[in-house]
Amino acid sequence: TIKDTPYRLGFHISAPANWINDPNGLIQFKGEYHVFYQFHPFSEKWGPMYWGHVKSKDLVHWEQLPIALAPFEDYDRDGCFSGSAVEHDGKMGLIYTGNVWLDDQQQELKQVQCLAWSTDGVNFTKDCSNPVLSRIPEEGSSHFRDPKVWKHESSWYMVLGTKKNELGKVLLYQSDDLQNWKYEGVLAENKEENLGFMWECPDFFELGGRHVLLISPEGMEQEGTEYVNLKQTGYFTGEFSYETMQYKHGQFFELDKGHDFYAAQTFLDDTGRRILIAWMDMWEQEMPSQEDGWAGALTIPRVLSLDKEGRLLMHPVAELDSLRKEKTVSVKEYAIENELVIGSADMAEIAAEFRVDDPGVRAFGVKVRCGDGEETVLTIVPDECKLVLDRENSGKGPGGGLREAKLSQVKSVSLRIFLDRSSIEVFADGGACVLTSRIFPSSDSLGIKLFAEGGTVNVQSAEVWTLGDAYI
Ligand code: FRU
Repeated sequence: TIKDTPYRLGFHISAPANWINDPNGLIQFKGEYHVFYQFHPFSEKWGPMYWGHVKSKDLVHWEQLPIALAPFEDYDRDGCFSGSAVEHDGKMGLIYTGNVWLDDQQQELKQVQCLAWSTDGVNFTKDCSNPVLSRIPEEGSSHFRDPKVWKHESSWYMVLGTKKNELGKVLLYQSDDLQNWKYEGVLAENKEENLGFMWECPDFFELGGRHVLLISPEGMEQEGTEYVNLKQTGYFTGEFSYETMQYKHGQFFELDKGHDFYAAQTFLDDTGRRILIAWMDMWEQEMPSQEDGWAGALTIPRVLSLDKEGRLLMHPVAELDSLRKEKTVSVKEYAIENELVIGSADMAEIAAEFRVDDPGVRAFGVKVRCGDGEETVLTIVPDECKLVLDRENSGKGPGGGLREAKLSQVKSVSLRIFLDRSSIEVFADGGACVLTSRIFPSSDSLGIKLFAEGGTVNVQSAEVWTLGDAYI
């Protein structure tokens, strides 16, 4: 079965079989966490979109639920595209984009916003007034999708992604009843900078007294080591006024510098945490797990915060500690000059703290999933003050070599790594430097090593926990 195939993830959300992309409808409802996802139940490739569904009591152990939305109405017949969830009058509401192709080449489309309701959080009924929003304002175009809805005081608000003349935008709406939506104007847009021709999956929220606009732009051009992937996910921070509906923001920053991170969405839980989950893949990439009948997964949940400069930080949710099975290694105060094998695992959490006093050190870091000719390498390059993730020799496709992120300093570096059977998520620099990538190593490439080149690095501590499966 798919469950026994080598790339099958142990503690990440994916479908029982077949294709998934964006996370949708993140919400805590009646004490349980619900996550929906773009799902094609009939193939390991993208197709007419359904909403798959999982829920959890702890954000770690997930239970698969029946499909929540299927594309069978005139207004959504070619796909229930991405959207969000709200709680209203004790019910869970899903607001999503109905997609209809107008031609056989899937070039022309009609996109409208729709609602569906559930009292039990499992079975959903589409609203009879659907679509609730189909009129496209002059500032938008037929690419009109991915509604994210939230409540402020007694009103509902929604952001939608669109484009006009090949420039991405986010539109803002207001409603008293979730049915009738008033257009408030453009919240933010690409004003002919390198910010993409279409802005997908917007999310807008308050954090640390500021307002963050998260977007997934298509069509940004690579600038050095920035915007290297086909599509990006990033954010602005700024000030928003509900009186004037105006948003003033600073520059765009990429959120995760790995190969596979897109279409992120957030929600607020009852502990006050702003939690983010993203699709842990990238469009148009080779996906070796398709041979086994599945593709796509979501990242581990991450708590967001803002640093003093207004940059977003991401931290794995603390609940993930419950995946730890066995601490297999604990190294303290150990000097390395070349390599030190510290473990063997395909699902592990690795925490390593390095101190570098030797100016000769050219590179140091961690290698995982090491085996015959295979390794995935995380290198800190002191001279360039950066962290590099190299998946060139990770195993089967998709290749794509290196991704890198700046570090604020390299004297004392802490890495926290979550390794699953076909993914790696690395957190460094207090959550300012995060890289997420899919890797497809052989099942017997299991080695975990620390390494140093050119001098001596002091490993202040290194710990490895093997992790257990998260499916109920
Ligand atoms: C982003 C996206 C969304 C759309 C969905 C379709 O990855 O293109 O804009 O709603 O995927 O599956």
